[in-house]
Amino acid sequence: MTDTSTDPVADSVPERCPVSDLATDYDIFDPDYVRDPVPAWTELREACPIAHTGRYGGSWLPTRYEDLQAMARMVPVLSSKSPIVIDMPRELIQEGGTGYNAAAPISADPPEQGWTRRALLPHFTPRAIAPQTEYTEKLCNALIDGFIDNGGCDAAVDYAQQIPPRVIAQKLGVDEDMVDDFIEWVRGVLELGLQQPELRAKYRDIIRAYFAEQVADRRINPGDDLITALCQTEVDGELLPDEVVIGMCNLQLVAGIDTTWSSIGSALWHFAGHEDDRRRMTAADDDLWDTAVEELLRFYSPVTMARNAAEDVEYGGVTFRKGDKILMNFPGANHDPDVFENAGEVVLDRQRNRHIAFGAGIHRCAGSNLARMEMQVALRTWLERIPEFTLSDPGAVTWAGGQVRGPRILPVTFG
Ligand code: HEM
Repeated sequence: MTDTSTDPVADSVPERCPVSDLATDYDIFDPDYVRDPVPAWTELREACPIAHTGRYGGSWLPTRYEDLQAMARMVPVLSSKSPIVIDMPRELIQEGGTGYNAAAPISADPPEQGWTRRALLPHFTPRAIAPQTEYTEKLCNALIDGFIDNGGCDAAVDYAQQIPPRVIAQKLGVDEDMVDDFIEWVRGVLELGLQQPELRAKYRDIIRAYFAEQVADRRINPGDDLITALCQTEVDGELLPDEVVIGMCNLQLVAGIDTTWSSIGSALWHFAGHEDDRRRMTAADDDLWDTAVEELLRFYSPVTMARNAAEDVEYGGVTFRKGDKILMNFPGANHDPDVFENAGEVVLDRQRNRHIAFGAGIHRCAGSNLARMEMQVALRTWLERIPEFTLSDPGAVTWAGGQVRGPRILPVTFG
């Protein structure tokens, strides 16, 4: 089992005081909320469907599906230029002087969002990700070979966390042996760095410098990979500038890793504790796998993105002031009982499931085909080889949250 006692990016985080009133003081980093946010969303949806907090620079938290759908379409008045749930202090924001965006299309508004997104989409069609499917199947089997004889493992650290970084490295055409670095960098930016801006800036700069080197290399030595393809992409008759390609690679790494490992980890956590669902899936056909993956995405939606009001705007009885942060609580929307029957239950064969785990509107996830494939292959392979497993120490399970929610320590034993 991997030793996590000397975590290279873990550090102290600011102390917090208890929540006085969810509607005016919610805390997205409260350990209870991170472990299980559903009761807070249920309470807020009834009492105050668009809540506010002054914590972490202040933000708004919508909880109703209808509101999330509407807000995702309020473009560009709800701007995506700073989609992280806590803004960087001004002095740490990197201007770069190029005018280009550090993580387009996710951190861009139209028209920049449109042309950067269009440059990416052809590389994430079901056909374009076929090589990654074969690769993922082999990878999952090799990972399981590494621990199956031990009678147990950390299903987050030794399995879920190992898959997306290798798959995206293979697609980008970068060194898969650097996967431990990629994990450290992404956690530094998106998890531990959320409340520690210096840490976030440090890893942001490391990732940028790494891809600057890779892009410079591909301009001279083209390969058969996504970085080369982006280097060769033309918009309006001109090649994408280096800074744009670097930003897009940064986004692939950050958006492609934490999200998908969280989804795989949450699903394994679910199966470890729900024997009926686990046994049902060990005998599942393709149709059941398709609905089950969607349901696990709905129930354990990992990703909350953010917007900032570009001007004063009224919506749903509240006024977002210019600059206000709005948390795109897609996970909360997916638990809205007005839209999902038995919203609080995992229904593996749920037929009507218009979840928004991948977002909605113009920023809807560009990597959803890849994410679904990785989830399905990872979970099917695990259950084929390890049909019986349980949590070995439920008290040792830890969850990360805020921007991307999922288990980070998940010890299991195989029976
Ligand atoms: C289960 C895994 C994943 C989940 C739940 C997820 C979720 C999301 C969500 C909610 C958004 C919308 C962001 C917003 O509205 O601001 C998004 C955007 C995006 N995702 Fe994913 N994602 C996953 C995996 C991936 C993967 C594997 C990739 C590719 C490597 C990827 C690439 C992107 C990109 C490029 C965007 C930006 C699209 C745009 O702004 O036009 N995602 N994702």
